[in-house]
Amino acid sequence: MAPGDALPALLALLGALLPGPGGAQTSVFPTEATLPRGGSVQINCSSSCDQQASLGLETDLDKTEVARGNNWKAYELSNVRKDSNLICFSVCGGEQTMAAASLTVYWCPDQVELAPLPSWQPVGENLTLRCQVAGGAPRANLTVVFLRGEEELDRQPVVGEPAEVAATVLVARRDHGANFSCRTELDLRPLGLELFENTSAPRQLRAFALPPTGPRLDAPRVLETGTRRAAVCSLDRLFPVAEAQVHLALGDRRLAPTIATHGDSLSAQALLRAKAGEEGSRQLTCAVTLGNRSRETRQTVTLYSFPAPNLTLSEPEVSEGTEVVVECQAQAEAVVTLSGAPAGPPGPRAQFLLNASAEDNGRSFSCSAALEVAGQVLQKNRTRELRVLYGPWLDERDCPGNWTWKEGTKQTLRCRARGNPPPDLNCSREKDGALLPIGNLSHVTRSLSGTYVCRAVSSRGQLTREVLVTVLYSDHQNLVAIVVVTILVILGVAGTAAYLYNRQRKIKKYKLQEAQKAATMKLNTPATPP
Ligand SMILES: *[C@@H]1O[C@H](CO)[C@@H](O)[C@H](O)[C@H]1NC(C)=O
Ligand SMILES: *[C@@H]1O[C@H](CO)[C@@H](O)[C@H](O)[C@H]1NC(C)=O
Ligand SMILES: *[C@@H]1O[C@H](CO)[C@@H](O)[C@H](O)[C@H]1NC(C)=O
Ligand SMILES: *[C@@H]1O[C@H](CO)[C@@H](O)[C@H](O)[C@H]1NC(C)=O
Ligand SMILES: *[C@@H]1O[C@H](CO)[C@@H](O)[C@H](O)[C@H]1NC(C)=O
Ligand SMILES: *[C@@H]1O[C@H](CO)[C@@H](O)[C@H](O)[C@H]1NC(C)=O
Ligand SMILES: *[C@@H]1O[C@H](CO)[C@@H](O)[C@H](O)[C@H]1NC(C)=O
Ligand SMILES: *[C@@H]1O[C@H](CO)[C@@H](O)[C@H](O)[C@H]1NC(C)=O
Ligand SMILES: *[C@@H]1O[C@H](CO)[C@@H](O)[C@H](O)[C@H]1NC(C)=O
Ligand SMILES: *[C@@H]1O[C@H](CO)[C@@H](O)[C@H](O)[C@H]1NC(C)=O
Ligand SMILES: *[C@@H]1O[C@H](CO)[C@@H](O)[C@H](O)[C@H]1NC(C)=O
Ligand SMILES: *[C@@H]1O[C@H](CO)[C@@H](O)[C@H](O)[C@H]1NC(C)=O
Repeated sequence: MAPGDALPALLALLGALLPGPGGAQTSVFPTEATLPRGGSVQINCSSSCDQQASLGLETDLDKTEVARGNNWKAYELSNVRKDSNLICFSVCGGEQTMAAASLTVYWCPDQVELAPLPSWQPVGENLTLRCQVAGGAPRANLTVVFLRGEEELDRQPVVGEPAEVAATVLVARRDHGANFSCRTELDLRPLGLELFENTSAPRQLRAFALPPTGPRLDAPRVLETGTRRAAVCSLDRLFPVAEAQVHLALGDRRLAPTIATHGDSLSAQALLRAKAGEEGSRQLTCAVTLGNRSRETRQTVTLYSFPAPNLTLSEPEVSEGTEVVVECQAQAEAVVTLSGAPAGPPGPRAQFLLNASAEDNGRSFSCSAALEVAGQVLQKNRTRELRVLYGPWLDERDCPGNWTWKEGTKQTLRCRARGNPPPDLNCSREKDGALLPIGNLSHVTRSLSGTYVCRAVSSRGQLTREVLVTVLYSDHQNLVAIVVVTILVILGVAGTAAYLYNRQRKIKKYKLQEAQKAATMKLNTPATPP
């Protein structure tokens, strides 16, 4: 209360407590007035005195006497800027009486403003809306209404100057993008005046939801240098998912993930790669940021290098009976297992000596190296094949030396020389050099019989072996043939004999006839002397 208000208030109090004696009364009209700030009002002070009373108006406002009559005076008070109490007084017969009036000034607030909203507001948390109101009166009739769009959320009285009125809203997903505002209502309708409204500029809210858990990280724990593996970082229940940002980094190297969203889920995929010389542990970090909050997951990825072990044979191709050193060497931290090696202390190196035999030709040696990286046992293998030069070999197993078959049967003649390099093999018959038909025989004939010499030749030398082929044939069959032939021969001989006999007979008969003819002629002609 301003000090200037103290005197009229005190006088009003006195006037109320001490009514004038003798019945003369001072009146004021109106006793209460409501007017806009800076407005004017007329006040009529009058006295019920039956004689001429002296009248006055006690106020610190600008006053002008606008009219007067018998025991009344009318004043105009102008530029009324604040609430004020007035006192009319009159002196009637030496007695002073008073009457008080009050002026109420109304005005709309100069400023109605909704305080800035947080740039991002988490869903499920309370948002405090603050409405700043400067000015406005009478405060008893001034209310602040909080609005979401057109929807009324809360209404509260305005207290203080300037006033800040607050309301809380539990933010939901639907509040994302909603426009919040506050409005003052100066309701003077009971006084026959209006409802005066002033609305703040709207502020748009950005709401977000982020689950309390960190993103899921699907990535290898170990990564070999020179290789690439995919890492996927995903998080569900994000709102609005399109606004989420992903930061994926291996150590201090930022990765450029491919981001895919589906519903309210997000997944970011990137390739992890390690170069030689980068061995060691790195943190793989995935952070999903939404609003001003972030969820992060970390995982250790161990970068390692692990070349396959070096498996060496002192010579990859040796002659039978030569000693070969088989050696496997891996990096210092690895443990190798070499096939064929005698058990020894585990370590990065293993070797053994081998007296190469024909059986070792084509033998594979394998060396497996195991390396433990971040609790995982990794394996790398290498194999080498040994070639042993041997032979030619041609023994009973390869080429049986005695075949005895029946004529006309089907047989398989087996003869194969062994050796590395593979030997050439020829079997030729001793007597005429005919070649032995190795393989399937559809029909064994007796002409196959004989002693063959098989010769196996390779760059490492030659070897011979005799193969005897005996074809059995049954003479019973031949007997029939002989009988048939004999019969034919007999028949032939008999036929020839018959023919010759017949011919001989015809000749005799002819000669007889000729002799008879000659005898007859000799009888008819005289014989001539020689
Ligand atoms: C002032 O009041 C008196 C007494 O009530 C009345 O007679 C007079 O007309 C009033 N004057 C005005 C200007 O209203
Ligand atoms: C408040 O509203 C009234 C009308 O209701 C208007 O005349 C006045 O200019 C407004 N005040 C502000 C600060 O906007
Ligand atoms: C997010 O912003 C709000 C207000 O804008 C603040 O209170 C809160 O501390 C911020 N959170 C983080 C993690 O920065
Ligand atoms: C939000 O505020 C209301 C009261 O205004 C309270 O009952 C509620 O527990 C609050 N909720 C949260 C999540 O803080
Ligand atoms: C205005 O304020 C006065 C005084 O407090 C009160 O009596 C009246 O009911 C109020 N009117 C409204 C509409 O709030
Ligand atoms: C909020 O206001 C902005 C402009 O101020 C408008 O573009 C947007 O559509 C409004 N949002 C809603 C939900 O009404
Ligand atoms: C390898 O073995 C063969 C036969 O077993 C033997 O004759 C030869 O002397 C051995 N060579 C060596 C170097 O031990
Ligand atoms: C294998 O041999 C290569 C070439 O000789 C060498 O550079 C490498 O270090 C060896 N690796 C191992 C594990 O010894
Ligand atoms: C290496 O050898 C082991 C056992 O000998 C086998 O299980 C594994 O599959 C092999 N790995 C490769 C890459 O050959
Ligand atoms: C071949 O085999 C036959 C019978 O199986 C035998 O009578 C003959 O003596 C053998 N010949 C040789 C040279 O081994
Ligand atoms: C076997 O015979 C073929 C042709 O008859 C000949 O070309 C080849 O050199 C012979 N091989 C041997 C080992 O005698
Ligand atoms: C020889 O005959 C056997 C079956 O009697 C057959 O499996 C094989 O393939 C034949 N070999 C040739 C060279 O025809």
